[in-house]
Amino acid sequence: MDKLAIIGGRPLYGEIPISGAKNSALKVMAASLLTDETLTLTNVPRLADVEMLMRLLDQHGARSTFDGSTLTLHAKDIVSTEAPYDLVRKMRASFNVLGPLLAREGKAKVSLPGGCAIGARPVDLHLKALSALGAEIDLDAGYVIAAAPDGLKGAKVSLPFVSVGATEHTMLAAALAKGTTVIENAAREPEIVDLATCLNAMGAQVAGAGTSTIMVEGVEKLHSAEHRVLPDRIETGAYVMAVGATGGELTLTGADAHLLGAALKVLEEAGLEIETNGAGFRVRHHQERCRAVDIVTQPFPGFPTDLQAQFMALMATADGTSTIKETIFENRFMHAPELARMGAKISVDGQTATVRGVRRLKGAPVMATDLRASMSLVIAGLAAEGQTMVNRVYHLDRGFERLEEKLQNCGALIERVKD
Ligand code: UD1
Repeated sequence: MDKLAIIGGRPLYGEIPISGAKNSALKVMAASLLTDETLTLTNVPRLADVEMLMRLLDQHGARSTFDGSTLTLHAKDIVSTEAPYDLVRKMRASFNVLGPLLAREGKAKVSLPGGCAIGARPVDLHLKALSALGAEIDLDAGYVIAAAPDGLKGAKVSLPFVSVGATEHTMLAAALAKGTTVIENAAREPEIVDLATCLNAMGAQVAGAGTSTIMVEGVEKLHSAEHRVLPDRIETGAYVMAVGATGGELTLTGADAHLLGAALKVLEEAGLEIETNGAGFRVRHHQERCRAVDIVTQPFPGFPTDLQAQFMALMATADGTSTIKETIFENRFMHAPELARMGAKISVDGQTATVRGVRRLKGAPVMATDLRASMSLVIAGLAAEGQTMVNRVYHLDRGFERLEEKLQNCGALIERVKD
């Protein structure tokens, strides 16, 4: 298994191109199953998760070509409505093929998903939504077996709490359902808006994305379209935090500061200077340390759970004590003991971590436990004195495109060590 060796203590200076959002790319890719025509996606990041989903879609009949960052998918015929355990278990987002297969073919058999080990992460809301749209659903031997022989029908889907995945899954399925679907208490993440934009370009009728109520007027058929995936706000936020931890100045090209939601204000309160310009934005930090700021993770536009781990790395060397409350996932502090190995002073009590900032972290061998937690260890390593060895880098390969190269270009001493 590859590792990353980082010698910390160097400020970051230069330009980092921000990739297309992984979490959006995976959902718009699933939309390709809804049409027998071609879906062309641009600004798609080259990541292990994207390649894994390409393999799954291929096995359903969607042929793909990936040229630079342009991914073309064409599911002329659906050749299989079964998504096997081996392809779904590694990535939760694969589960989103269920709705499109059901909508187009009237049946699907999809393995229950896996993904990052950050809590139980059930799919009950997804299944309830599909049932509301008229699907008959059985669970058998780790598989969801779903059927809608007469097609899906529009319905009211009221989510008991905000779920990004369930909102997207309902939109995908409802696009080809008969009649109107209303999703209440819908997630408002920018990736939801991106999916709606893509579906509408394909001929769907989705309104209200970005608000808590989404209306989908089902249509009979979707057609070919081209869609540009929005910039990755989590990658963006992670590099902003890296500058906060190391000092320096970065231009993040292709990024959109507004996509950071509440995180933007938090980062400014922590002392980072952010200046937007047309093609992205510039972030600067020339103080010795950041200021401690308290955060609570919330659905968008609140502080994103996917930046919580990276923020903890930033707060580990901040001036003062911060509290970090995680409200989205119940087991998302696995990076805390790893950061503690580097000298961070963190105590965890239930869903709240208290971080007492220290002047300097010390490099150490650490273990990446999930995708975003891995990035927090990279940030800590860039800021720490001496060498940090981050083990289990495959987590990072799932979600951060050309990480070492982007950081090396800005002066970081970071190298992949092949095993
Ligand atoms: C997506 C993102 C993930 C991000 C998360 C929250 C992708 C590929 N992943 O994950 O990076 O951290 O949004 O912003 O886009 N839940 C249930 N039952 C369900 C569905 C969800 O109990 O059927 C719970 C989850 O366990 C979690 C909460 O709802 O506690 C929110 O999860 P959700 O918003 O659905 O996250 P994902 O879509 O899985």
